[in-house]
Amino acid sequence: MSGSKGAATNYYPPDASFGPSRLASTLELGPLLTAVPCARLHAKLILKEWNLADVADDAELIISELMTNALKAARPLPEIQPITLHLQASHDHLMIQVWDALSAAPAPRPHAIDAETGRGLEIVSLLSERWGFYHPVGGGKVIWATLKITATPAAPGKAGA
Ligand SMILES: Nc1ncnc2c1ncn2[C@@H]1O[C@H](COP(=O)(O)OP(=O)(O)OP(=O)(O)O)[C@@H](O)[C@H]1O
Ligand SMILES: [Mg+2]
Repeated sequence: MSGSKGAATNYYPPDASFGPSRLASTLELGPLLTAVPCARLHAKLILKEWNLADVADDAELIISELMTNALKAARPLPEIQPITLHLQASHDHLMIQVWDALSAAPAPRPHAIDAETGRGLEIVSLLSERWGFYHPVGGGKVIWATLKITATPAAPGKAGA
C-alpha cells in the first residue's frame, strides 16, 4: 500500500517445534471493515486447496478474532496501514499469523460472564493449541495461533479433493 510501512515480510514460526512448512500464503488487506470477511473467505479457499478443510471452521473463527483486533489496532493510526494474514502448514500443524502496524501487545483481560467484549483472545486460546505474539524486525507485531491438523496437507501445487 502506498504510504504504508508495509507488512512484515519475514514471517517465521515462533519456535522450532513448528516443522518445516511447504505450504504458505500471505494476504495483505487495507484496514477496511471488509478485511475480516475477506480474510475468512481467503482462508476457507486456501485450506480447501491444501486439503485442510477439517480445521477450516476453527481457523476461520481464530482469523476472524485476530483480524478484527488487528483492524481495531490499525484504524486509528495516523498513516493508513495494512493488516496481513499469513498461513503456513507443516505436516501436522496449521500456523495462523496476523500482522498489524501497532507495536502494542495484546492484553487478554478477565471479563464478566455477561460482558459484551473481551472474549476474542479467549476464543483464540480455547480453539488453538498454542498462541502468542512477537515483534518482527520490520515493526508492528504478529499475533499467532497454531491448530493441530489430522489430514495430510496437499503437496505444493496440488489442489486438495
Ligand atoms: N492486535 C492488537 N493490537 C493491540 N492490542 C490488542 C490487539 N489484539 C488485542 N489487543 C488488546 O487485547 C484486548 C483483549 O482483546 P480481545 O480480542 O480478547 O477483546 P476485545 O477485542 O476487547 O473484545 P471482543 O474481541 O470480545 O470484541 C483488547 O481490548 C486490546 O486492548
Ligand atoms: Mg477482539
